[in-house]
Amino acid sequence: MTQTEEVMQLYYEYVMPTYTKVPLVMVKGKGIKAYDIEGKEFLDFFPGWAVSGLGHCHPKVVKAIKEQVGKMIHVPNNYYNELQGKLAKKIIENSFDGKVFFCNSGAEAVEGAIKLARKVGYPSGKYEIITMEDSFHGRTLAAITATAQPKYQEGFAPLPGGFVYAKFNDLESVRSKITDKTAAIMLEPIQGEGGINVASEAFIAGLKKICGENKILLIFDEVQTGIARTGKMFCYQYYDVIPDIMTLAKSLGGGFPIGAMVAKREIADVLQPGTHASTFGGSPLACAAALAVFEAIEEGNLVEKAVRRGRYLHNRLSLLKKDFPFVKIVRGKGLMQAVELEIEGKQIVDKCVEKGLLINCTQKKVLRIMPPLVVKNADIDTAVAIIQEAMKGVTVEG
Ligand SMILES: Cc1ncc(COP(=O)(O)O)c(C=O)c1O
Repeated sequence: MTQTEEVMQLYYEYVMPTYTKVPLVMVKGKGIKAYDIEGKEFLDFFPGWAVSGLGHCHPKVVKAIKEQVGKMIHVPNNYYNELQGKLAKKIIENSFDGKVFFCNSGAEAVEGAIKLARKVGYPSGKYEIITMEDSFHGRTLAAITATAQPKYQEGFAPLPGGFVYAKFNDLESVRSKITDKTAAIMLEPIQGEGGINVASEAFIAGLKKICGENKILLIFDEVQTGIARTGKMFCYQYYDVIPDIMTLAKSLGGGFPIGAMVAKREIADVLQPGTHASTFGGSPLACAAALAVFEAIEEGNLVEKAVRRGRYLHNRLSLLKKDFPFVKIVRGKGLMQAVELEIEGKQIVDKCVEKGLLINCTQKKVLRIMPPLVVKNADIDTAVAIIQEAMKGVTVEG
């Protein structure tokens, strides 16, 4: 048995089989490189499903965690911890005037947003939340119900009520779903799991108008798009809009679990003591990691780099269209790019893995390419060359 097989055996016997897995046991990472237990090196263009936004084991994050871990790991939220206040201030300084609730994951941040929107709407009998087809908001019961994709909901009925679905980038569809019970509209500015579908400026401008006219909250789920990924610190900043609520997680902690729900000041105090909580939320260790992430982004000028490197990546990927007729379109913002294919992408992803490149495929036909913010043009050249080689070997049916 190889070392990989030994680890896989333990999973077969003792770990619930909830994930479709690639047969790799990852043991080490540094920057854009990841290494498996057999010593094979990979160029990681999808580090941690957008969690390791700064690459693996960024020195600033490692240092901050090491320093904090010996001082205090956890402080319950009935006491104060100085790093939570500092992190909240940092998030607000980089977004909009408001307050932050800390939790541990994206789904939890989304749950918080749903609860806040309902509590705000409660006195006027508003509780419905409009979400978008092909969205993804996480795996708790409320989050899968907000996620308007039947495949995530099947077998889990009864689902909580109060969710209504509209078509993404279709204002008429949204308008037709509004009732006197609508409390909020929630969307990802770029649908990640849904296939890197970018919200149009007209759509967001229209949503802003609809929300203003009907006193409806606008919630941006930036769990995947946040923290410089798209070439702005938060993706909403591409649009002429400020959301009432924004959810964050994934790369916020540079690999360490932390989620956040940010709300405008005028609604933030609706969640009073006893209405919402998270035991682990905003621990000093998680906050130390997240503060280091902001420091690394500022010092490394990584927002601006995400724009430049993203443009380079986009242009390089677009060249694939010339050679491969099954490449339909390349789209995305910053370092969140997709190559949509006419064929299934799994065989290309598998071939890339063989050749030492990690990428992802979503919605069966969309290659999702999200390298860390520290990616260099030379890494992009190498990765695109591998994708090109992988594409040469595909079999096109029909
Ligand atoms: C936009 C969005 N929201 C929420 C989530 C759920 O995050 P988590 O898996 O941390 O609960 C995800 C995860 O992919 C996501 O992409």
